[in-house]
Amino acid sequence: MNTDNKISRRDALKRMGTAVISSVVASSGLLSLVSCEGKRKKRIILYFTGTGNCLYVARQLANESTELLSIPQLMKLKKLEIEADEIGLVYPIYGHMPPYMVRLFIQQAKLKAGYKFAILTYGARKCDAVEIWDGISRKAGHAFDYINTLIMVDNWLPNFDMNEQILMDKHIPENLQRISADLAEQKHWHEPVTEEERRMHQGFMAYTGLNPETGFLMRSEKYFTVTDTCIGCGACVSVCPRGNYKLISQGVKMRGDCEFCFACIQNCPQKSIRFAKNESDPLLGRGEVNPNARYRNEHISLMDIKRANNQF
Ligand SMILES: Cc1cc2nc3c(=O)[nH]c(=O)nc-3n(C[C@H](O)[C@H](O)[C@H](O)COP(=O)(O)O)c2cc1C
Ligand code: SF4
Ligand code: SF4
Repeated sequence: MNTDNKISRRDALKRMGTAVISSVVASSGLLSLVSCEGKRKKRIILYFTGTGNCLYVARQLANESTELLSIPQLMKLKKLEIEADEIGLVYPIYGHMPPYMVRLFIQQAKLKAGYKFAILTYGARKCDAVEIWDGISRKAGHAFDYINTLIMVDNWLPNFDMNEQILMDKHIPENLQRISADLAEQKHWHEPVTEEERRMHQGFMAYTGLNPETGFLMRSEKYFTVTDTCIGCGACVSVCPRGNYKLISQGVKMRGDCEFCFACIQNCPQKSIRFAKNESDPLLGRGEVNPNARYRNEHISLMDIKRANNQF
C-alpha cells in the first residue's frame, strides 16, 4: 500500500512543486501563478483529504506546471488569496456536504481564475452534493464553472468494511480520464441532480439531525477513544487537520472541533483509535463494521497525509 519509496518522475516533480509553492505561500500574501511561459495554462488544485482519495485525484489531475495546495495548510498559514489561470478544488463529501473546513475556506478565500472546477469524491451515495457545493460557493461569491463527482473507496467506517471496499471496482481510472478530458477543454458543466437525490438528502438530514450550516463538525473527545495498544508513535498528532491530538505522559489525548475526516482513526498503525460508545447517536449507535480494517488510498503514503494536514 505504501508507495513512499517508489515515486515516478511525474510524482516527484509534483511533490517538488508543492514544496516550492509552500515557500512561496510562506513568504508572500498573494499567491500568483498566472503563466509567464506563453499560452500554457497554470492550474492550482486545492484539496482536503482524510484518507488520501482526494490527494490522489488532485495528483492525477495535475501536470508538471500544476501546483497542489492543501486547504488545512492554507488555513493554518492564513494564505487565502489565490490566483491562477485555472483553480480546482477536490474534497470528500460528508453527508453530501463539504467538510466544514472547506466551507470556511471558500467563505474566506479570494480566488482569481478564468476557470474554476470542483471534483467531489464519495463512496456510495452522492445525492445532491453538486447542488450543495454550487449553493455554498455561489453564496461565497465563487461560482464554479465545472462541478462533478467521482466514486472511490468509501471510508465511512460505521457502515463499510474497508477490506471489502478496496476489492470493489469503482472504475476510477476511466472516470478520472473523462474528468481530465473535460478539464482540458475547460468544459462548463454541473453534473445533474435528480429530485429523488434531493429527497434522499432531506431524509438523511432529518434522520441524523445534522446542522446544514456545519455538517459533520463534531467534537473529537466525544467520538474517539484510544486503547492501550497505542505505542505513542504520534501519527495521529500529525495527520489531524485540526491539530486535536497530543502526546502526553500517559499516552495520547484528543480534544477540539473535529472535521470527522477519519484521518486519525484510519491512519493509526496500531488500530488503537476506536469510536467511543454512542448508543443514542443515529450514525454511530451500532459502532463500526470491522474495527480491524483500516484504509488509506494505495497511492498515498502516511507521510503524504502528514504533510497535507499537520498543524504543528
Ligand atoms: C464523515 C464522513 C461522511 C461521509 N459521507 C458520505 C456520503 O454522504 N456519501 C458517500 O457516498 N460517501 C461518504 N463518505 C465517504 C467519503 O466521501 C469518501 O470515501 C471520500 O473519497 C474520502 O476521501 P479522502 O480519502 O480524501 O478523505 C463519508 C466519509 C466520512 C468520513
Ligand atoms: S497513531 Fe495510534 S499508535 Fe500512534 S500515537 Fe496515535 S493512537 Fe497511538
Ligand atoms: S480528530 Fe480525527 S477525525 Fe477529527 S479532525 Fe482530527 S483527524 Fe479528523
